[in-house]
Formats: sequence, C-alpha cells, structure tokens
Amino acid sequence: MSGIILGIETSCDDTAIALVDSSNQVLSSIISSQVDVHSGYGGVVPELASRAHERVFLDVLFQAFKDAELPPSAASIDAIAVTKGPGLAGSLMVGMAAAKGLSAGWRVPVVGVNHLEGHIFALDIENREIDFPMAVLVVSGGHTMIVVARSRGEYQIVGETADDAAGEAFDKVARFIGLGYPGGPEIERLARDGDPNAIKFPKAVLKDPYDFSFSGPKTAVVKFIQANPKVALADVAASFQKSVAEVLAERTLMAAIHFGCRSLGLSGGVGANEKLRVTMMELGLNAGLHVYLPSKRNCTDNGAMIAVAGRYILEKFGPSSLDIDAQPSLRL
Ligand code: KG4
Ligand code: ZN
Repeated sequence: MSGIILGIETSCDDTAIALVDSSNQVLSSIISSQVDVHSGYGGVVPELASRAHERVFLDVLFQAFKDAELPPSAASIDAIAVTKGPGLAGSLMVGMAAAKGLSAGWRVPVVGVNHLEGHIFALDIENREIDFPMAVLVVSGGHTMIVVARSRGEYQIVGETADDAAGEAFDKVARFIGLGYPGGPEIERLARDGDPNAIKFPKAVLKDPYDFSFSGPKTAVVKFIQANPKVALADVAASFQKSVAEVLAERTLMAAIHFGCRSLGLSGGVGANEKLRVTMMELGLNAGLHVYLPSKRNCTDNGAMIAVAGRYILEKFGPSSLDIDAQPSLRL
C-alpha cells in the first residue's frame, strides 16, 4: 500500500489534480486555469467550462504523476478522490466520469468529496494539529459561510450570505470598473496604490450576526463611482476590500466566541486575499485564538484538498459506489 491518493477537482473553472501521500504531504498539484476561456465574458460560461475540462484533463493527470515522479498507473495510488458537488453540473461530470473510468480500469476505490468539505480540509494540508472547535470562514466565488467544526467531519453552518458570495462581489465590482476576471486578485492589485480609509462604504446590517450580504455593498460601490466619476479607482478598490475583509473577519470572530471555538480557519478563493488574511490573523490572535491560514495556492480550488478530505472519508466511511452522481446543489 502506497497510501497515495489522487485528488480530482473540476467543480467550476479550474481543472485541478493532485497526488497526496499518507501524511498529507502534497507530492504534486497541477491547476489548469480557464481564465483565458472566460475572461471575455466577465464570469464562468458553464458550457465552455465543461468542454475545457475535457480538453485538458489527461494532460493535467499525466503532469501530476510526472511531477510526483510516479508512473501513471494503479500501482502508484491507493484511491481516487473526486469532487461530487456542489458546482456546475457539466464541469462536475467531467471529473466524475474520469474518476469512475480510472477506478474501474485500474481497480482502485473511488470516493466522492463535497467541495466545501474539501475547502475545510485544505487546512489539514499544512496544519496537522488543529485546535478544535474551530470557526472556519469558507469564502469563494460561489460560497460565503461560517462553519463551526467541532472535529474533523462534524460541521454546523452558523452563518451564510443572504445574496452574493464575497468572491462574486469582488468579481462584479471588478467588472464594473473595467478590470479582468477573476476580479478578486485584480481588485487586490489595484488596492495596493489606494487609501483603504478614503471612502466609508456601508456594511450591510442583517438580523443574524453571523450572516452576510454583499449585494448592497456592491451596489453602493457602483453608485459611489457614478456619483463621483473622478474618484481614484485605487481608493475605491482599497476601501471596498477593507470593508469586505473586516465584515468577514469580524463576524467569524464573533461566531467563534459565541460557539466556544479555540481557533479560526480561513479557506476558499477569497482566502488568498492578503488584507483578509492579515485581518483574520490580527483579530484572532488578539482574542487568544489559534488562526490557521492555508497557503494562498491551497485556498483557491485545488486537487490536494480533495485528496486530503477523500482520505478522511475513505478511512471513516469506506469507498463510494461507482453509481455516485454529480450533485450540483450538494450542501455541507
Ligand atoms: O475557491 P475558488 O477558487 O472557486 C470557487 O469555489 O468559487 O474561488 C474563486 C473566487 C473568485 O470570485 C475570485 O475573484 C476570488 O475567489 N479570489 C479572490 C482572490 N483570489 C481569488 N478574492 C479576493 N482576493 C484575492 N486575492
Ligand atoms: Zn471552491
């Protein structure tokens, strides 16, 4: 037994495949981005996404084995972990069909992984010891939620967005001010030259203290620029980024304290944002909590997080059957 797991992630617009060993060390992690395919549209076009996954899948797979210096064969791995949802149906199906084909052909077990649980397990790639319970902020282009993890695999969603995901708000604001897709990294780049205290954008007020709303703040940015066409866009980017980072980190901290957590975790694409990382770190450490931040590469979608989650699920529940389906609306 090699203990090596092949992790496959195709839920949205990245074809990501990784090989992870029995101590959750990443042997290889290939991420083929579809930014060029979708950038002209300001968002992901589902039909183009699934076609692009299908086109690059085998190259990404072989590159993952090559980087890990392993032959692409059954002898190199113990199991295959694949994202089963949530995500775009067509994109998920490419990864699922490939995983099932490899499983049947190579006679190795396959295990389906919830993409959101994968993001939480990204914290396990580099932090083997986690001080539970932990309040995890999962924040990406499709999701914004605070999850209280009592232990590995034991989750309670305590806060969610009422409308847009935080990454979606970054993407929409970026699109409005003429930046490229994905918008988060573009806003972050522009914000470097701006004053984060230049503009006070309103923070959405919600009944539940752990919920979020980003549709109002996004509209506030648009209206502000329309009313002040000469404003420095770098100031807008820096002020918007600061207000989003603060609301995300403050609410995660409040939830952590309320639910008796000993640590904070951050995962998902927006978790690559430096302002958010620093704010989470400062608030958490000031409150005497451990703060776990995966590397930026492991915050955005990747195959290693799916492999690590897959190992846990496999050990606890055993393999999935070959008739598992893609579940585009799967919940945590
Ligand atoms: O987790 P992810 O790779 O895919 C989803 O599951 O959605 O997250 C992608 C999202 C996009 O909305 C992107 O704009 C955002 O994460 N993002 C960022 C940064 N890097 C990626 N947002 C803010 N700052 C960043 N540095
Ligand atoms: Zn994701």
